[in-house]
Amino acid sequence: MTIPIKNKDGIAKMREACAIAATVLEALKPLVRPGITTQDLEEAGRDLIASYGARSACYGYQHGSRRYPAHTCISVNDEVVHGIPSFRRILRDGDIVSLDIVVWHDGYVGDNAFTVPCGAISPAVEKLLRVTREALELGIRQAVVGNRIGDISAAIQAYVESNGFSVVREMVGHGVGVAMHEPPEIPNFGRKGTGDKIKPGMTLAIEPMVNLGGAKTKTLADGWTVSTSDGAPSAHFEHTVLTTERGPEILTIPRPRAA
Ligand code: MF3
Ligand code: CO
Repeated sequence: MTIPIKNKDGIAKMREACAIAATVLEALKPLVRPGITTQDLEEAGRDLIASYGARSACYGYQHGSRRYPAHTCISVNDEVVHGIPSFRRILRDGDIVSLDIVVWHDGYVGDNAFTVPCGAISPAVEKLLRVTREALELGIRQAVVGNRIGDISAAIQAYVESNGFSVVREMVGHGVGVAMHEPPEIPNFGRKGTGDKIKPGMTLAIEPMVNLGGAKTKTLADGWTVSTSDGAPSAHFEHTVLTTERGPEILTIPRPRAA
């Protein structure tokens, strides 16, 4: 499948959708503290998305015969991605919380995520968050016109594994635009010089999912939540990036809200 190239109008609309997704994500960060529930974060996210005239791309998202039941994905500790918010899930000191916000606005999708600490976390988990964030930065740096998708993958994998962590295989980054998932797939593992060539005007969601323990994951009985098989913590950082002749541009940058 060929990778969609966005024109000027598409890029302008991607900028807007991504700015909204990033602004909502950033606004949730200070709410993460011991004692709140993941449902509290869901409701705040849902209301913020609506306040920008956008819609959640997660709500009602169909996978097989299931529809995702929430507006946000909130994954705690050993949960990797697609955690369903719940009023029963109370955050505790030392937890890590992965927040994933995907919005539709004016026909385009913005997708971003990060993992934040809840209270004080251990040095090992602190390192997991830092390495995953840096792996995303290194991957983005490879999203250069003339490179190949595998250059992004290889950079992420090499950095993660050299730090003693493992890369999730079952889920991958992806093109994003008029749909949440467009070509290409962007694995967080692979070989330099392989895959599609990067051209200007691609919008790519690059999203390392990194486990402190083994790479293996499983899907929980709710049909959505993906967690590590060994129960060790997992982190997730994601940006939507525009490729340009001048290099990669991160589109999911929060905007200060007008006073
Ligand atoms: N960022 C996630 C992804 O790209 C969002 C999934 S929404 C859900 O897969 F509905 F599938 F949870
Ligand atoms: Co994504």
